[in-house]
Amino acid sequence: MKNCFGDRILADKVAFIAGGSSGINLGIAERLAEQGALVALLSRKPEKVQAAADDLIAKGYRAMAIAADVRDYAAIEAAFVQVKNAHGPIDIVVSGAAGNFLAPTVALSANAFKTVVDIDLLGTFNVFRASFDHLRKPGASHIAITAPQAVNPMAFQIHACAAKAGVNMVTRCLALEWGPAGIRVNGISPGPIAETEGMARLSPTPEAEAAFKQSIPLRAYGTKADIAEMALYLACDASRYVTGAILDCDGGWSLGDASADALTVPTRG
Ligand code: HXC
Ligand code: NAP
Repeated sequence: MKNCFGDRILADKVAFIAGGSSGINLGIAERLAEQGALVALLSRKPEKVQAAADDLIAKGYRAMAIAADVRDYAAIEAAFVQVKNAHGPIDIVVSGAAGNFLAPTVALSANAFKTVVDIDLLGTFNVFRASFDHLRKPGASHIAITAPQAVNPMAFQIHACAAKAGVNMVTRCLALEWGPAGIRVNGISPGPIAETEGMARLSPTPEAEAAFKQSIPLRAYGTKADIAEMALYLACDASRYVTGAILDCDGGWSLGDASADALTVPTRG
């Protein structure tokens, strides 16, 4: 992708990326690393997160892997200590660990609802809260990965909708509270992004994918690079006066149904 920002604008920066071992978050990690940041990837599965870090290192970037669960506050705090001891204060924190699946509410157990809320919402609180003592202040930038579901109710995703709504409010509360310390806190709300686990779960057949695309104003899924570019903007000084913002990168999906039927003026019988 054409570089809108310059070269190595994050040299000497340290980025902590929760949920950074695959998908959208790994795309963000690679973009930040390409701009010179040391990226610390964190996720649950040790082999998966180590392989992701090894792949970045093989490309010539600076990366490290940490296996931990965002639901475990002590483990997240220990991860920040590990990164700071190895590389110094943290400049950029991305909270993107999440879980989702389609389930009618009547088929959703209380534990299933709690599981997604714990990963997405409690996890984001844990990552941001645990970061505080280990940040470069002033100057640190936090980025929560949320979703249109935070604002737009969707059937069969009550767990993810409720969790991401909470993520938006955690983002805005911390922007208010931590602004005076020189810490920015923003969110990115991706729409449907191609070649991700999220879309494999939400739109699992070619027919469902084709119908989905026809409802999006820009008539296409986004790419991991689209989200990575927005994350780079929020991570760097170009956004130095932006805090508490939830930026949509969704082809207009959150605006509403843009299918041909929905955009046809009804005529009298
Ligand atoms: C109904 C389900 C279920 C399903 C799990 N459960 N899958 N219920 N339908 N498909 C229930 C289980 O029965 C259990 O409840 C409870 O959820 C916890 O399940 P575990 O398997 O023990 O949980 P865990 O091992 O912690 O795994 C979490 C997970 C899993 C969310 C269930 O799918 C996961 O690890 N996901 C991470 C990857 C992922 O989802 N990526 C996509 C993110 S995309 P009981 O009652 O039986 O104990 C995304 C997309 C778009 O977020 C944004 C929308 C907001
Ligand atoms: P993904 O590849 O499944 O990414 C999820 C990441 O979180 C993985 O690295 C996973 O690794 C990690 N993770 C999951 N549970 C964790 C836990 N408890 N503790 C620590 N790490 C955990 O999914 P994706 O589709 O790219 O989604 C990434 C983010 O974008 C999510 O926040 C999602 O809600 C958001 N989003 C996605 C879309 C989309 O179109 N895909 C749309 C809107 C929003 P481990 O399995 O190793 O833990």
